[in-house]
Amino acid sequence: MYESILVDRDGPLAFITFNRPEVLNAMNRRTKEEVLSALGELERDEGVRVIIFRGAGEKAFVAGADVKEFVGVKPIEQREDRRRLRYYETIASYPKPVIAMIKGYCLGGGCELALACDLRVASRNSKIGQPEINLGIIPGGGGTQRLPRLIGEGKALQLILTGDIITGEEAKSIGLVEEVFPEEELETKTRELAMKMAEKSPVAVHLALQAVRAASRMDLQAGLEYEATLFSLLFSTEDKEEGVKAFLEKRKPSFKGR
Ligand code: COA
Repeated sequence: MYESILVDRDGPLAFITFNRPEVLNAMNRRTKEEVLSALGELERDEGVRVIIFRGAGEKAFVAGADVKEFVGVKPIEQREDRRRLRYYETIASYPKPVIAMIKGYCLGGGCELALACDLRVASRNSKIGQPEINLGIIPGGGGTQRLPRLIGEGKALQLILTGDIITGEEAKSIGLVEEVFPEEELETKTRELAMKMAEKSPVAVHLALQAVRAASRMDLQAGLEYEATLFSLLFSTEDKEEGVKAFLEKRKPSFKGR
């Protein structure tokens, strides 16, 4: 059904695979539209609890936006395209956890896609960076905003101004990725991590995502009030009754998402 991505299900986990290995999975307009369409479908599917992005082939997660599409684009078209598509924004506000599973090159728009995800898991030798400066441009998919929020302004500027590419191991040491694993263990470990989230109450997971994501755009007082509201809201769910009851009865809870 899709041309440039693959969508696979494994129980509660859904994998979206960037599938243009001949161009190191560079994302063109079609890729982005297909990802948005897949995300829409997976959002409606109650059985899907966690989304995992990955790249096809051995060399790349995503080597950036498709540079070929930059040729001859008028500024106003570029701006309008970003506004209409809301690609990175959709990922960053998705109601289910989204994980970037990074192997090989994760550059430019690929790095920004990973930044829009909730968690980044990488192989030790993956290659991560924002090399746009080498093309005479700057990151345009949220990199200048999400990267400093994640790793601090100094480190973000170092990466953005030099265009340097760092390994997964180095990315972990500066907090750009949350976990690194040897390449051969990457998928197993990522699945284990995702399954832990998939077993929780999806409604609690959704509100936890909303609350934590709000932390970078709200001041502390407003954020704490927002948290208190979402926390209280969860006292209306069957899952909260089940979670508390299961704890008291010393058994595993069975969450329904209601
Ligand atoms: N957009 C379009 N095509 C891309 C691409 C991108 N972002 N990244 C790689 N490709 C294509 C190459 O043009 C090449 O196509 P070809 O075989 O038709 O020439 C193919 O993918 C393989 O890449 P190649 O450069 O030959 O591989 P390499 O191992 O020598 O180098 C990179 C790998 C990642 C260092 C190099 O491809 C690169 O610098 N890519 C661009 C990264 C970038 O600037 N991303 C940010 C864009 S905003």
